[in-house]
Amino acid sequence: MYNRVPIVLTRGEGSYVYDIAGHAYLDFLTGIGVASLGHAHPGLAAALAEQARTLLHTSNLYFHPLQGQVGRRLTALSGLARAFFCNSGTEAVEGCLKFARRYWHTRGETARTRIVALERSFHGRTFGSLSVTWTPGYRTPFEPLLDGVAFVSPTDPEALDTAVGSDVAAIILEPIQGEGGIWPLSPEFVDAVTAACERTGTLLIADEIQCGLGRTGAPFHSATLGLRPDLMALGKALGAGVPIGAILMSQEVADAISPGDHGTTFGGNLLACRAALVYLDAMEHGGLARVRVAGARLADGLRALATRYPVITDIRGAGLMRGLEMTEAVATRVVAGALAHNLLVNRTAGRVVRLLPPLTISDGEIDEGLQILDTVLSEAQ
Ligand SMILES: Cc1ncc(COP(=O)(O)O)c(C=O)c1O
Repeated sequence: MYNRVPIVLTRGEGSYVYDIAGHAYLDFLTGIGVASLGHAHPGLAAALAEQARTLLHTSNLYFHPLQGQVGRRLTALSGLARAFFCNSGTEAVEGCLKFARRYWHTRGETARTRIVALERSFHGRTFGSLSVTWTPGYRTPFEPLLDGVAFVSPTDPEALDTAVGSDVAAIILEPIQGEGGIWPLSPEFVDAVTAACERTGTLLIADEIQCGLGRTGAPFHSATLGLRPDLMALGKALGAGVPIGAILMSQEVADAISPGDHGTTFGGNLLACRAALVYLDAMEHGGLARVRVAGARLADGLRALATRYPVITDIRGAGLMRGLEMTEAVATRVVAGALAHNLLVNRTAGRVVRLLPPLTISDGEIDEGLQILDTVLSEAQ
């Protein structure tokens, strides 16, 4: 069920989408961090058309060459040994939770089932991923959820230390909390996570679905922070618009899982893997460097706006993942005003205007978006 913005989008090109009446919108949201190469990317379109003419789907009863190619690329980028493919972010989180439990079960520690998650977290809407999602409004109507989940404040390293004992299977975290309001984890909290994992052997699950795969200018933001996850959940940008999710895991975790423990009909089919290969090519051949430059330009522009508009009380994020905090009333007006001026952004955690432009955005388009935000902020404050 969705509260939809009342426009009907029928096509896109680069950083713009067009509605049914032909109006262009500069897309600073990319379908919530998904259209990573912008819209109607010619290389992606050609690859998908060719794949559609060749072979789309085999199921996971058989091998096909593309899963291995994507898997090798992701394992090389992450340092994690193995990949499992699924279709969405929430499924990737589900798989991570199952594999973490399976790891301890295989090792004979069958009571080691607890999960530690963070306040402000968002990991998805299925029962497992919802169980580690913090927002009470998302959870309460569906309770009871999974037993044994404890939430810790991401600003309280000591609370994390207390919560993680030898009965905890895994800690799950977003290196930058996305839906929760674009909150990067602090170095102190990162140190506490690393110490708790080293002290107890607890597995670390990094949810890189929103902040990973190039959005911050690095393949994975957990590595930027110095975290060493045992499992990683991926989605969104990986398929550049084609649904695909992936779980990356260490060899130790993979060794604990047996065929039949988990599976999916569509996961990692040829169409999705072909899209991922196009995306990974673009990301590795100049894409990451471009995000770092573009992200710095966007951040400079946002900081300049904040000096002129005191309604902006904080700017957070990295690369092309940025949040502007203001009151809920002003944030609501800014999002509506941006739409009226043909800029797509959204509001998350009530009071944060979220920017997730395409990773291919040009300098001129960044400046255009900043100019629109300038106009909108002057009207909204
Ligand atoms: C950090 C994070 N985890 C999980 C999810 C769920 O992904 P999906 O909507 O693809 O199921 C999201 C989606 O916004 C997310 O941002």
